[in-house]
Amino acid sequence: MEGTMTTLTPVLTRNWDQPDSFTRAAYERNGGYQAVRTALGMNPDDVITAVKDSGLRGRGGAGFPTGMKWGFIPQNSGRPNYLVVNADESEPGTCKDIPLMMADPHVLVEGIIISSFAIRAHHAFIYIRGEVLHVIRRVQQAVTDAYAAGYLGKNILGSGFDLELTVHSGAGAYICGEETALLDSLEGYRGQPRLKPPFPAVAGLYGGPTVINNVESISSVPSIISNGAEWFASMGTEKSQGYGIFSLSGHVTKPGQYEAPLGITLRELLEMAGGIRAGHELKFWTPGGSSTPIFTPEHLDVPLDFESVGAAGSMLGTRALQIFDETTCVLRAVLRWTEFYAHESCGKCTPCREGTYWLKQMLARVENGQGMEDDIGTLNDIADNILGRSFCALGDGATSPIHSSIKYFRDEYLQHIEHGGCPYDPAKSTLWGGVK
Ligand SMILES: Cc1cc2nc3c(=O)[nH]c(=O)nc-3n(C[C@H](O)[C@H](O)[C@H](O)COP(=O)(O)O)c2cc1C
Ligand code: SF4
Repeated sequence: MEGTMTTLTPVLTRNWDQPDSFTRAAYERNGGYQAVRTALGMNPDDVITAVKDSGLRGRGGAGFPTGMKWGFIPQNSGRPNYLVVNADESEPGTCKDIPLMMADPHVLVEGIIISSFAIRAHHAFIYIRGEVLHVIRRVQQAVTDAYAAGYLGKNILGSGFDLELTVHSGAGAYICGEETALLDSLEGYRGQPRLKPPFPAVAGLYGGPTVINNVESISSVPSIISNGAEWFASMGTEKSQGYGIFSLSGHVTKPGQYEAPLGITLRELLEMAGGIRAGHELKFWTPGGSSTPIFTPEHLDVPLDFESVGAAGSMLGTRALQIFDETTCVLRAVLRWTEFYAHESCGKCTPCREGTYWLKQMLARVENGQGMEDDIGTLNDIADNILGRSFCALGDGATSPIHSSIKYFRDEYLQHIEHGGCPYDPAKSTLWGGVK
């Protein structure tokens, strides 16, 4: 992509600044619920084709092509098909689905109707993170209003298509965002990942063919139907098409959600966000949440698309850009994330259950100034024994901060070990000239 991108592409975030944006009246006033009329007049397979042609890839982290996923659903399995929306958003740094559902829940509802119609599902579920009660209430209200207006229920808009939509609240476990753990939780079991295969497209919720998609993926569908696949594909890069919500948090002047074409860089986003907070400079950042290897200032110009971020050694993930300036201790940030993974490990498999616990212990020791030089190698070894050997991606994700922080900030580990403490804690130390 050439030139500097300084324009945003507000589609999902377009109406967020309107005071009543979350109401059905506002959504309809802004052109909402027109795409569903178009879709219900189409052949369901053509809806799938439109989503395939748009190039939309899952916005929940892995980037799997959405239309292709829908195409895997068998139509004659003898069991009902289901659509499940993953609204568990719990990855540290990720904050896009929750603001989206707060500001514009009807775009999600409209996306669900169109997507269910495409895959021939007559019952859809929204699985929402349990801690965000205000969001659950807002989405529930939107669903109630959509039923009242005839967008849900029997014979939607006279099309003959029926759809029930259930809002389900989780109980606050990060692992329940993993799609198969989510299904177990939704069925009333303890949320733990299932063995694959069978994949959910073949045997998912209650054994039926099931599509699981992220909130942002499903919310992108109405505008694809309204504006066409080509319009969507004209944005972004060759293999990462369209736009996405980039969440900037941390030491940035104007944190928030920036909706932009995939392939934009952090340098460009920072330009729009007023830069790093005054008087400070960028030290490290995550491109896609805490499960994606950290980047440094040398990566400011990496295009934020699936391929380029991967080639540079990390992952686009959920575009959760957590920004840290030079006052941050890398080890402390990594320890905080590691404590999260150890706490959220579901305990099903040994490498993750035991490994995250040991990572936490050892990191705390180094951060507190009781570390030994060998600890750096041991941390890397423990992470090596989790990565690729765990039952699900939570374990792999837990190794990203460890491996990448040692790769880029080995000196900072050594300084903690040599100086017997964290030089970033002004109360404890004045090493390195203190902290600004
Ligand atoms: C530990 C863990 C947590 C996850 N949490 C979420 C989440 O909160 N929301 C989400 O959409 N995907 C989450 N995922 C990814 C899902 O398993 C799945 O890939 C995604 O919901 C598919 O939707 P998409 O294709 O639209 O991206 C998580 C994965 C793992 C391993
Ligand atoms: S990797 Fe961790 S979260 Fe995933 S199944 Fe194993 S113990 Fe559970």
